[in-house]
Amino acid sequence: MEDRIISDSVAPDDASLEWSVRPQSFEHYIGQEQVKHNLKIFIEAAKIREESLDHVLLYGPPGLGKTTLASIIASEMQVQMKTTSGPAIERAGDLAAILTTLEPGDVLFIDEIHRLPRAVEEVLYSAMEDFCIDIVIGKGEGARSVRLDLPPFTLVGATTRAGALTAPLRDRFGVLCRLEYYEPKELAKIVVRTADILGMEVEELAAIEIARRSRGTPRIANRLLRRVRDFAQVQGDAHIDLQVTHQALDQLQVDKQGLDHIDHKLLLGMIEKYRGGPVGVETISATIGEEVTTVEEVYEPYLMQIGFIQRTPRGRVVTPLAYQHFNLEVPRT
Ligand code: ADE
Repeated sequence: MEDRIISDSVAPDDASLEWSVRPQSFEHYIGQEQVKHNLKIFIEAAKIREESLDHVLLYGPPGLGKTTLASIIASEMQVQMKTTSGPAIERAGDLAAILTTLEPGDVLFIDEIHRLPRAVEEVLYSAMEDFCIDIVIGKGEGARSVRLDLPPFTLVGATTRAGALTAPLRDRFGVLCRLEYYEPKELAKIVVRTADILGMEVEELAAIEIARRSRGTPRIANRLLRRVRDFAQVQGDAHIDLQVTHQALDQLQVDKQGLDHIDHKLLLGMIEKYRGGPVGVETISATIGEEVTTVEEVYEPYLMQIGFIQRTPRGRVVTPLAYQHFNLEVPRT
């Protein structure tokens, strides 16, 4: 019997755990009050008119709940959601294949919509505006264009870079929602909620500490919670208190502001090699060995939010606040 595979014994990975703790209605979605308030009104109005909801663009840094909101929109509208992403749609035909499976009112969620190829984007314009697409069938002399009517649908686009969207695409969204970093209080509530779903006991002070170190981001808060749980369980006590939380987060090199070793490398690299800047993002990325887009979309937004770096026309600059964080003297200019 020893070699029998027991599928239940396979530990769910972080990605599937993330999915299982996602709120499924506005009622359970903590934070983003302004966005929730507006969306609820637009959804209610669309339902009263018995129309599909206008197209929605969700933008903001990663991990703030764009995908979750898209699925809540679909469920509140009582329609199906089909999910894809910008880079996954390579040709106009790929988009046509998805669009033609939609039922009236359905939500089509396109993640990373700024990465749609231009030719695909152009097909999307008429789909969004007139609910029809023109596709070319055949090649050379025999090629002809066929118009396909689509049911009314709602496109929900998500992007970390609203500025990278072309104006014609951006203008076709009737609802623009910018997601903000969460307050520590909101993140603490999310940690308590997730712990509850996963059957863990977490003390309030521990939840607050995890929240403080999560860079305003629920995805990070939930990930840190799971890592703290690992430390607690190995020590033989699944109960999460402040002591094991401090121990785990220090071990993970997540500092009091939630900055990790890559943030440290980035800031200290700018300070030590470039006297705090101004320095170009390409140089910073090369120094720390990360992609430019990762630096721009993941690391910089939070460091700017907490006032540790500033973007200037001549490049990025480290602020006195960041020097203070590392107990370093601010250089005289
Ligand atoms: N889990 C991840 N994000 C959440 C949110 N905004 N509200 C509740 N639970 C969450």
